[in-house]
Amino acid sequence: MRVFAISDLHVDFRENRQWVDQVSDFEYRNDTLLIAGDVSHQLERVEAVFDTLNEKFAHLFFVPGNHDLWAREEGASDSIDKFNQLMDLCADCDVITQPLLIHDVWIVPLFSWYRLPELGADSLFASKKGEDPSLRMWSDNRFTKWPIAAEAVVDFFLNLNTPYLSKVTQDLPVITLSHFLPRQELIFSTASEHRKVRPGARDPHPGFNFSRVAGTSLLDVQIRNAGAQLHVYGHQHRNRDRVLDGVRYVSHCLGYRRERAWNLVCELDEGPMQVWPHVS
Ligand SMILES: [Fe+2]
Ligand SMILES: [Fe+2]
Repeated sequence: MRVFAISDLHVDFRENRQWVDQVSDFEYRNDTLLIAGDVSHQLERVEAVFDTLNEKFAHLFFVPGNHDLWAREEGASDSIDKFNQLMDLCADCDVITQPLLIHDVWIVPLFSWYRLPELGADSLFASKKGEDPSLRMWSDNRFTKWPIAAEAVVDFFLNLNTPYLSKVTQDLPVITLSHFLPRQELIFSTASEHRKVRPGARDPHPGFNFSRVAGTSLLDVQIRNAGAQLHVYGHQHRNRDRVLDGVRYVSHCLGYRRERAWNLVCELDEGPMQVWPHVS
């Protein structure tokens, strides 16, 4: 059994939806796909993606990203209501959102959100010269609505994971997945990652400091409590494949067209990335 990863499908863009359609109908019939969030803010588009990928893979796992939890549509009163609607959709579409043993590997979805620096020490914040701390251009500020206090959002999602983590037996390999980042180091490119980026790529939003909305270090605590050997995540739209303190962290985002053109995300012509068994 092989496990593949993809995230940030963002199928509101036509070329991204075409990418999903072009994934092989035959190559992955016995395989598992981990979808690490940011499919679309529109439920019917998420459903269409699940239907398409269910035809191509044996098993689909999913965790919602921030775009998936936007409460812009009629019918979602807030972002937790939207989360519950997404969970119902996953159940209807046979998309797995709880830990499950697939053959001899545990796959463990971890729900999460990001900690703003002013709301907790588990924020992944790192200062950036010239940043605008108001996050004026960050769309979550307009499109997410929380019926709970802002500082309670991370804990709401992480607490959903806690009862399931005890189900995982660590005598078998464990793969976890989240949308958000679990460690600050992952935000920054290594020299070899930087060399892959096309000359001419530039920071499109110099005033935006992604680390404010990157994730939470409390996710890494859950990853390690689960005994993970491998963690798959998304959100930043950067390719990563690194081992940190004994855990391999992989991000394979489809992202946006400009990010693909600049090789900030790359190797997407080959489809989703095989993450298990490890091929180097
Ligand atoms: Fe995204
Ligand atoms: Fe995201």
